[in-house]
Amino acid sequence: MEYLIKQYPVETGALEIQYIEEFFGEFPRRKMAAEVMARLQDREALILMAEAPLPDDPGTLVPVSYKVVHEVKPHETDPKLRDLIERLHDCVRFDDRRILYSWIGATRRDWRGQGHFRALTEESEAWAVAGGFHEMVVKTKNRFYEMRSALTQLQFDVVKFERHVKNAESKVYMSKLLSAEMVRGHKSMRSVVQV
Ligand SMILES: CC(C)(COP(=O)(O)OP(=O)(O)OC[C@H]1O[C@@H](n2cnc3c(N)ncnc32)[C@H](O)[C@@H]1OP(=O)(O)O)[C@@H](O)C(=O)NCCC(=O)NCCS
Repeated sequence: MEYLIKQYPVETGALEIQYIEEFFGEFPRRKMAAEVMARLQDREALILMAEAPLPDDPGTLVPVSYKVVHEVKPHETDPKLRDLIERLHDCVRFDDRRILYSWIGATRRDWRGQGHFRALTEESEAWAVAGGFHEMVVKTKNRFYEMRSALTQLQFDVVKFERHVKNAESKVYMSKLLSAEMVRGHKSMRSVVQV
């Protein structure tokens, strides 16, 4: 199967994310376009979205999965990112290395388990290696079992665990070292269109 991926500039991508987030009823706090734009402006970032046919109307392609990654630097000013960097301080090395943060992403329920998230992740890794990034980090929670399973399968390693009183809410930080060799090992066939 060849995965169809669109790469978006920030403004259009932010609107597309707001649209696709409407389909993720399981998460109460959905990402809005303004938040995406505020986070990504003035930093290196990649917005990817996979499209696939509607099962009952195969001629119609719809967005089914998305992923946003962006650069993080050792001295961030945004409070959320500053907090993230502080938490990563003891498990990710920043000096002379380019670090990418895998911020948000998901696949619509009816299209899960079909490889869309792998395709987006592999595309983001290829982009990252071409751009000179050294490591991709991601934060999730104990209770996000699907995401933890997918990240493990995509060979992200746990680098930190932050215990919460409710263990389901404990944070799990995962990371993957990026290299050209790793990109050569990618499994998905993809066609990427720049919007
Ligand atoms: C996690 C999620 C993005 C995976 O998307 P997907 O498109 O179904 O993932 P893929 O089909 O590309 O699977 C990628 C890999 O992970 C594995 N995987 C995916 N979901 C899995 C699950 N629930 N259990 C075990 N393995 C799983 C797949 O087998 C695949 O590995 P393989 O290619 O070696 O076979 C999707 O389940 C989702 O959107 N979940 C909700 C999002 C979420 O939890 N957000 C929380 C905030 S962090």
